[in-house]
Amino acid sequence: MGGGSTDIKLIDEKGIRLDGRRVDQLRPIKIEAGVLKNADGSAYVEWGKNKVLAAVYGPREAHPRHIQDPTRAVVDVIYNMCSFSVEERVRPGPGRRSVEISKVIADAFRNVIFTEQFPRAKIDVYIEILQANAGTRCAGVVAASVALADAGVPMMDLVPACAAGKANNQLILDLGKEEDNVGQADLPTAIVPKTGEIVLLQMDGHLTQDEFDRALQMSMNACMQIYELQKDALRRRYATSANDAPDTEEVRQ
Ligand code: CDP
Repeated sequence: MGGGSTDIKLIDEKGIRLDGRRVDQLRPIKIEAGVLKNADGSAYVEWGKNKVLAAVYGPREAHPRHIQDPTRAVVDVIYNMCSFSVEERVRPGPGRRSVEISKVIADAFRNVIFTEQFPRAKIDVYIEILQANAGTRCAGVVAASVALADAGVPMMDLVPACAAGKANNQLILDLGKEEDNVGQADLPTAIVPKTGEIVLLQMDGHLTQDEFDRALQMSMNACMQIYELQKDALRRRYATSANDAPDTEEVRQ
């Protein structure tokens, strides 16, 4: 957030934003499941100019043993921004921001994965931001939940995520980089569609109670659109695997 500057014009008189979107319009999103051979599950997401890869390992026995929980699986998330993902090179290694993002995403998934089915196990989720242009934590959640499903990890539901916010005194969906830099508020949200539960909610900037309610509704509606894209990616993945399998005639020969 740029401290609420309203001087820079991000939305024109017709309600069109710098990148040509309407205030309630998402950037284009593409999701592909099962992109990495050596991970148990994986997914790749392009969301506007964001490019995000997620890989899942596990559930597998947790090591060292002292980290094991006898009642449930431990879920670990590592969100990493590649040095080349932004204009000003990011210092490699976990900084304050990536530690925070990893934690809030892990908390979100601990609410969704049936961890009690895997005592003493560990599930590792790696989120690699290859290219960043605002909204990477949401893109990371979207990619990670498809990767978890691709790994066959039992969960309540997929977890779509999206941000809404405010710029030039108007509520907008899915903030782009300029909007994030100089806008007035940013509200990343992740939900469990099946229950309507919110599993991630953060806020940067300022909103009135009424604006907050409307922004939350906007991001939750967008989450339902993204949920369809996540399911579609898994369907395509399943269809490809079925086509790749040798048919019974071939096996018999
Ligand atoms: O990416 P997200 O919106 O979830 O998190 P943020 O902390 O609000 O960052 C917004 C954007 O700032 C990122 O998506 C990057 O494009 C950019 N950024 C950057 O250029 N350099 C960093 N070290 C961190 C973020």
